Amino acid sequence: MNDRAPHSMSVTSGRRGSVALARVSVNFGQLLVVDDVSLGVAPGEFVSIVGPSGCGKTTLLNFAAGLLPSDVIRGSYLVGGAPPVSGNRDIAYMLARDALCPWRTALENAELGAEIRGVPPPERRQRALELLDKVGLKGFEDAYPKALSQGMRQRVALARTFSLDAPILLMDEPFGALDAQTKLQLEDVLLSLWQREQRTVVFVTHDLSEAVSMSDRVVVMSARPGRVVADVRITLGRPRSVRALQKDPAYHELYSHVWTKLEEGLSP
Ligand SMILES: Nc1ncnc2c1ncn2[C@@H]1O[C@H](COP(=O)(O)OP(=O)(O)O)[C@@H](O)[C@H]1O
Ligand SMILES: [Mg+2]
Repeated sequence: MNDRAPHSMSVTSGRRGSVALARVSVNFGQLLVVDDVSLGVAPGEFVSIVGPSGCGKTTLLNFAAGLLPSDVIRGSYLVGGAPPVSGNRDIAYMLARDALCPWRTALENAELGAEIRGVPPPERRQRALELLDKVGLKGFEDAYPKALSQGMRQRVALARTFSLDAPILLMDEPFGALDAQTKLQLEDVLLSLWQREQRTVVFVTHDLSEAVSMSDRVVVMSARPGRVVADVRITLGRPRSVRALQKDPAYHELYSHVWTKLEEGLSP
């Protein structure tokens, strides 16, 4: 299989929609959390980062989103062609329990990001309606979050994330709080949106099956301090259905390969 050793990858230069980290380390005081990580993500690529709990996955995304103070970071890095800064309009960040505003309808929540960024009302409403349709919520535009299931709320959060029109999506276990069946459905919804909209996705998860089934590449991190132990190209065709892949032997082979790499990263 086509793994590349850590550090041997060429880090893409600063293009819009690309992420380029070269030998990045993060220290919180004496605690080394991320150790010498190099990672290049090309515009439009779907890359997952997997690794054991506490290995620095969320820290890496916070870093890319410009949320870490510069004194905890070493290395060189460009996100969307510029050093990470908070409020970067090229970035949308989605979390596991993406809080929706309880007093806003599904539609009003879906257009919230665009509203904050000053997109004119008719334009953002049109876009939010279209996205709610794409995530399977046609007919629920006027529903409030309390009337929606957890899966439906994450569908709204997906629509809100895509409504930002940011070329880079950072996603931190966005389906981590969902049951297995709902998760498979949402993974397919995300893939179809991604396929259609050509965004760059950096997807953090500890769920190997979701990483392998959705991604172009899976980056495997070791236990803390998080290092890159493997960068596995997922040679499954596109478009993909995550649900259909569950029966595909090629998928299971890649899954077991990534699993082996993850286990290697657990031993000191
Ligand atoms: N702001 C912070 N200050 C101090 N320690 C932190 C901070 N953020 C994360 N950590 C520590 O860094 C380590 C990695 O955390 P995290 O990136 O959340 O891991 P993961 O997302 O892979 O589970 C943990 O030990 C955590 O306690
Ligand atoms: Mg985390």
